[in-house]
Amino acid sequence: MTRTVEAITKHMGVPPHTNSQTMKAVRIHNYGGPEVLKYEDAPRPQPGKGEVLIRVHATSVNPIDWRVRAGYMKDFLPHSFPLILGWDVSGLVEEVGSNPATAGRFKKGDEVYSLPDHTRNGAYAEYMVVRESEVALKPNALHHIRAAAVPLAALTAWQALFDTAQLQPEQRVLIHGAAGGVGHFAVQLAKWKGAYIIGTASVKNHEMLYELGADELIDYTTQRFEHVARNIDVVLDTIGGETQERSWQVLNKGGTLVSLVQAPSENKAKEHSVRGIRLSAGPNGQELAEIAKIIDAGKLAPVIDRILPLSEARRAHQLSESGHTHGKIVLRVRNGNGTTESTAR
Ligand SMILES: NC(=O)c1ccc[n+]([C@@H]2O[C@H](COP(=O)([O-])OP(=O)(O)OC[C@H]3O[C@@H](n4cnc5c(N)ncnc54)[C@H](OP(=O)(O)O)[C@@H]3O)[C@@H](O)[C@H]2O)c1
Repeated sequence: MTRTVEAITKHMGVPPHTNSQTMKAVRIHNYGGPEVLKYEDAPRPQPGKGEVLIRVHATSVNPIDWRVRAGYMKDFLPHSFPLILGWDVSGLVEEVGSNPATAGRFKKGDEVYSLPDHTRNGAYAEYMVVRESEVALKPNALHHIRAAAVPLAALTAWQALFDTAQLQPEQRVLIHGAAGGVGHFAVQLAKWKGAYIIGTASVKNHEMLYELGADELIDYTTQRFEHVARNIDVVLDTIGGETQERSWQVLNKGGTLVSLVQAPSENKAKEHSVRGIRLSAGPNGQELAEIAKIIDAGKLAPVIDRILPLSEARRAHQLSESGHTHGKIVLRVRNGNGTTESTAR
């Protein structure tokens, strides 16, 4: 009896080859635990006007990925199923959709990275479509695996510290969760700006954070930060709850508390004569291009907690959900030679 290639590869646990209409992707068909992540064939998307098709080399995991997967975001981000998660991408431009207004910005073969719009399909896939305005050339200093760790977390840090809090040189900034995906970029960007940086992190991450530019670190597991941090101009709150509640008292009058996780109380802000702002970071190709320049100047770099193949997305989600990874978890979609990771789990 003749065995087809498909039958043989299935037997070996290797997914059969995709054709130009299909691709491998990790999708969800309903909300739930990590088990709803399915490594499977999916239709390959086509770029429309003002969009580019990216041949994905790597993506990275952010807490929003498992929050969407679990259904916690369904009232804010109306997604339809099947859905591809992953809102960080680094890869090559495969095709440019026709748009006379932006023609020439990107061409086939450009090495790019992006934080795409969260409401659309993400980058846990061999290909994805992104709006041109959300794309920038990736930093030359980083290969795709490391570049994929940058967009969402670094843009969030940028938009919180610079666009929202208007952080100035010499100002004092308190960064909560300094060792996390957003926090470790915030430490480096605040340093680049010339600010004085106090971070909260457990002691195992202190050495890394001093190397990244932190001036003082507080072990939040043994010390109350409000007993140590004083005269703060900007608080970056990546934690919420009682961490946010205890942060008001450390701020100078006229200071700013920016929270990524919980709307600050207007009454508390008024009581302390400070600003309290909840930020929802968003795509921005121009800011990503600025960030690439800072990376290429050697002033900013991602810290990678670990690199896993796309097929291990479930494990990556479990790790991210633990809330104690440092830096970023990257999902490798293609090997160095451009072939797709093929060990389906
Ligand atoms: N609004 C937005 O646009 C936006 C954008 C990006 C992220 N976010 C949100 O911001 C939060 C942080 O994101 P992320 O990517 O940085 O998360 P992450 O990488 O998962 O953060 C993990 C880090 O948090 C630290 N941590 C946990 N509890 C802490 C505490 N009580 N005090 C100080 N540090 C603590 C851990 O340090 P130890 O190991 O030392 O405990 C770990 O290094 C998430 O909730 C995410 O959803 C929002």
